[in-house]
Amino acid sequence: MKVVIPAAGIGVRFLPETKSMPKEMLPVVDRPVIQYVVEEAVAAGADDVLIVTGRTKRAIEDHFDHNPELTHIADLPALRELERLAERVRLHYIRQRSPLGLADAIAYAERHVGGEPFGVLLGDTINVCNPPLLTQLRAVFDRHGGKSSVVAIEPVPDEKVGDYGIVGGSELEPGVIDIRAFVEKPALRDAPSRLGITGAYLLTPGIFDAIRETPSGRQGEVQLTDALGRLGRREKVLGVTFRGTRYDIGDRFLWLKTNLEFALRDREIGDRVRALLRESGK
Ligand code: G1P
Repeated sequence: MKVVIPAAGIGVRFLPETKSMPKEMLPVVDRPVIQYVVEEAVAAGADDVLIVTGRTKRAIEDHFDHNPELTHIADLPALRELERLAERVRLHYIRQRSPLGLADAIAYAERHVGGEPFGVLLGDTINVCNPPLLTQLRAVFDRHGGKSSVVAIEPVPDEKVGDYGIVGGSELEPGVIDIRAFVEKPALRDAPSRLGITGAYLLTPGIFDAIRETPSGRQGEVQLTDALGRLGRREKVLGVTFRGTRYDIGDRFLWLKTNLEFALRDREIGDRVRALLRESGK
């Protein structure tokens, strides 16, 4: 399976940090977010990953590149792990010319995916799931005839509805809905439900025509949620409430929270972080 990782967004909520630095390179403990995302794709069986980058995103390519000088001076297990990851998957990069939205970024993958269904994971979101999230989406895709796009969804609180693509539909089986309505970042009163799109997708190639037909929406960007709405008129689009935890690092608080949770689980520093939190809680 091929996986596309859009990583071209400007990272406005994290300025000035993201002025020259990709938000996907922000560290979670000792590795950048995008490394977790690539690991997640590989764990779900991806052997080919296309990362859609843009201006200021060059550090992503450098991160996965072989660095002989470094291997020479430091024989760190974490570095070897990264080398092995980069060897297990063929990584490709393409640059989005202007930040015109998620759907526009995905449109850059059309030739690359070559008429096959493909996975999409956001470059700034880690999904800790067992089985991996794309494996869960694939299972629903296969069970429903292998012809419908599948979107990961989760309930969101009222005050967050305006931050997500929100979907509405009818339940096909526990945890799976046939989506009939898609609204990108609605006002609460216009939301068809409280189910938000979390940013992991398994898409059929029909999405590319749908993107072409979609006019730009909010903030002059072509929204993937709007394109999915169009696709939904021709093909079924399914929503899946998945098992696992999602860590979005897109703003300061969420990034810090993700770091704390991962640090608490870290074998080397977990105890010290716990002690620090206890102390600062006094
Ligand atoms: C994007 C999508 C939105 C989705 C969200 C998940 O928005 O447009 O539909 O719910 O990702 O994180 P963004 O967070 O890039 O504004």
